[in-house]
Amino acid sequence: MCKVYSVTSQKGGTAKTTTVFNFGAYLAGKGYRVLLVDTDPQGSLTASLGFGNPDMMDVTVANVMEKEINDENYDRKNYAILHHSEGMDILPGNIELSGLEVSLVNTWSREFVLRRYVDKVRDYYDYIIFDCASNLSLTTINCLVASDRVIVPVHAAYLSLKALEQLIKTVGRVKRGLNTGLDIDGILITMLNGRTNYAKGIIELLDTAYGNNIRVYENKIPYSVRAAEIAAEGVSIFKHDPNGKVASAYTGFAEEVLNYE
Ligand SMILES: Nc1ncnc2c1ncn2[C@@H]1O[C@H](COP(=O)(O)OP(=O)(O)O)[C@@H](O)[C@H]1O
Ligand SMILES: [Mg+2]
Repeated sequence: MCKVYSVTSQKGGTAKTTTVFNFGAYLAGKGYRVLLVDTDPQGSLTASLGFGNPDMMDVTVANVMEKEINDENYDRKNYAILHHSEGMDILPGNIELSGLEVSLVNTWSREFVLRRYVDKVRDYYDYIIFDCASNLSLTTINCLVASDRVIVPVHAAYLSLKALEQLIKTVGRVKRGLNTGLDIDGILITMLNGRTNYAKGIIELLDTAYGNNIRVYENKIPYSVRAAEIAAEGVSIFKHDPNGKVASAYTGFAEEVLNYE
């Protein structure tokens, strides 16, 4: 039974990509079959995983979506898939997603393109995780339509309740109109500097505003330069700094997600 997650926040710099990388690496380390999908035209996940300049890549998720749009027959198990040394598969993304976004507008069932792909590769994986762009594009809607659950990272120091409110509304709309199976899994507080009272205030605020309806994960991801270093190293925090506080926080978070399933 494959589970499909979208990591999204409608805000840049909330550690979406970092969370997808480490959550995926944790799951792969447990022996699960994991596919990470980079749906951000910036290709940060693709680059972080160590695959060089994404814009130089010939085949990406944009080509996959094109093939789905054109109802083509192709080898979904292998087409465009890359393999990371820690065991995850990745469907890379790059700037071509921007062009695709434009052509999606005039596509029949334009919100269901990724869903069609996911339905056909579900059997090959235990987990599929979408790394979403920071804006609410048609591609992001495609991710939500293709997902079972949504993980929402929030930057502790730059919390935007407005962005959060908007995201919750969007997920609600998608659930009503396009994917009744969609639910928010939880809010993950990232880049937390626990010593500041400001951050404590944020956590209290979130708990008061959403605590009853939406889970705020117990495990928060601390701010640490070690976490920022992984993008340059091409390895997850579990390889880069296995005994550090970020690895332990991502482990705790991942276990919370799994326990809740
Ligand atoms: N726990 C952390 N501590 C410090 N820096 C972090 C942490 N998590 C992510 N970063 C850094 O913050 C920046 C934004 O993270 P990223 O995962 O790219 O966010 P997003 O995908 O939401 O835009 C990146 O430079 C990343 O390396
Ligand atoms: Mg990102």
